[in-house]
Amino acid sequence: MCGIVAYIGDKYADSVLWTGLERLQYRGYDSAGMAVISDGEIDLRKRAGKLRELDESLRQNPMRGAIGIGHTRWATHGEPSERNAHPHTDEGKTLAVVHNGIIENYLPLKRDLQGRGHLFESDTDTEVLAHLVEEVMDGDLVSAVSDALQQVEGTFSAAFIHHQSPDRIVVARRGSPLILGLGEGENFVASDVPALLPHTQQMVYLEDDQIAVLTRDEVALQTVEGEEIEPRIHHIGLSPDIADKGDYPHFMLKEIHEQPNVLRRLYNIYVTDEMEVDFGESGLDDGFLARVNRIVIQACGTSWHAGLIGKYLLEQYAHIHTEVDISSEFRYRNPVLEGDTLVIAISQSGETADTLEGLRKAKSKFMRVLALCNAINSTIAREADAVIELHAGLEIGVASTKAYTAQIAVLGLLAMHLGRLKGILAPGEIQEFLQTLKTVPSLVERAIQQERIYACAEKYSDVGAFMFIGRSYNYPNALEGALKLKEISYIHAAGHPAGELKHGPIALINEDVPVVCIATNGSIYPKIVSAIQEIRARNGVVIAIATEGNTEIKAYAHEVLYIPDIAEELSPLLVALPLQLLAYYTAVHRGCDVDQPRNLAKSVTVE
Ligand code: AGP
Repeated sequence: MCGIVAYIGDKYADSVLWTGLERLQYRGYDSAGMAVISDGEIDLRKRAGKLRELDESLRQNPMRGAIGIGHTRWATHGEPSERNAHPHTDEGKTLAVVHNGIIENYLPLKRDLQGRGHLFESDTDTEVLAHLVEEVMDGDLVSAVSDALQQVEGTFSAAFIHHQSPDRIVVARRGSPLILGLGEGENFVASDVPALLPHTQQMVYLEDDQIAVLTRDEVALQTVEGEEIEPRIHHIGLSPDIADKGDYPHFMLKEIHEQPNVLRRLYNIYVTDEMEVDFGESGLDDGFLARVNRIVIQACGTSWHAGLIGKYLLEQYAHIHTEVDISSEFRYRNPVLEGDTLVIAISQSGETADTLEGLRKAKSKFMRVLALCNAINSTIAREADAVIELHAGLEIGVASTKAYTAQIAVLGLLAMHLGRLKGILAPGEIQEFLQTLKTVPSLVERAIQQERIYACAEKYSDVGAFMFIGRSYNYPNALEGALKLKEISYIHAAGHPAGELKHGPIALINEDVPVVCIATNGSIYPKIVSAIQEIRARNGVVIAIATEGNTEIKAYAHEVLYIPDIAEELSPLLVALPLQLLAYYTAVHRGCDVDQPRNLAKSVTVE
């Protein structure tokens, strides 16, 4: 998604904006630009491509101004190009705007403005904002922005500067996150925390239909209608280097290796010394939870895969009927939500537009919504009735890894909590699960060390397609393995329940299609072996993920990637590792941009 940064203070704005844009690159983008007010004029620079293209322009001709706005664009309307890059201005370059979101009524607005003589340069929806504000501008930028945005339908986080108001930046938000960073004699704006961490820990999360006016010494908040609001200041408490790769070549590899400590942290936070699950101040009402007789999980992508594993855990341990929906489908259906139903929204970023609208649909039907979120100050976390934080730390790689295993672990803990509240689980059963969960971090460390993964990735990195199959708790992992591979290595990959092979996918089996078969110990192991036999009988290539000690499987598979032995119900936490690393090493071998894969964004804040 697009990234916004803005600065007002005493430094040269271009250097502050540059640092901010660098730290937002993980959001995914195809062009970048910035604008500053210098000697009463708008100085505008923008380039298609990566930030290094913009760097060239800045080196040749540095921008001189202490107030500015910057943007990395993830194209929605208009192809990636310099012309469509932000910031956008009115024809007289009296003001500049950067925007994240979608102006849904931009075409009628554009036609009306063109009818009034406004000349448009780009194909973007965003440019409408520049002409709209210029049209109503009467010397006060705040009221002009307020008037203009009240005509807009759709979502926006936007920052405006005007050459006649060099002492202020005006920003606004509806549906796309925007955060204010409070400094000493300087103030900042960014789409996400990493861009602000080098400057401040004091942050204000703008809420929907709010406008903020930033001067060097003050931040004032109001509603779009003009009603003053007291800013709620959060102390973030994250060090700037949390957004650094450290010694790792990619954020994704760093975050894969952080998983053992994330799982240790989750255990220490949510499991008491008495071996009970305690979600603390999450807002969960145990009285209500004890009555819950149906759960609807809604999420996207990797979070949806975690939700699918949650279904197995919740039905197994809490005996609660659990459905799992893709948010973009859930939000446009008319789901039957009634009685003692709990809706769970799973989202790493807490800003995914479809999951947020799914949450709002559930609440419109008077449902209680529990959010499983990594970004605790996110919109989904704020709008849910209760939140269980994933405590995975900032996840910057576009391919989600540590948040995924954190989601699975939290869903397991939730199943234990609900099983206890409903009298399904005896204390001994809960303790057995928790004792096993406590061993997982060290087992994950062993799973990461599996040296065959790199060799396997290198051997098959040039194939045209992969297939992934699994059953039961690891069927969702087959989907996740396929998503990981396709989203960062660009190899087509499909995941299937192993039992579905004979219903179609087996037609694709040949010597050019490696099939990753999740064949770890468990009740369904013999069934997976049958599927492997079927694949081998058709000259298929089998890469098995198996449990340490299983030597039999070497007779059936071309490659075997081992994970330590663990109870079937918790095996997805370990199986995720070879899947993540297989995708990672394949992408690296193919020279792909692992942390910022093409066309993808870390948080999909537009639908
Ligand atoms: C995960 O690797 C993908 N980048 C993507 O599918 C992601 O899981 C999805 O967009 C949901 O994001 P969220 O968890 O932040 O809501």
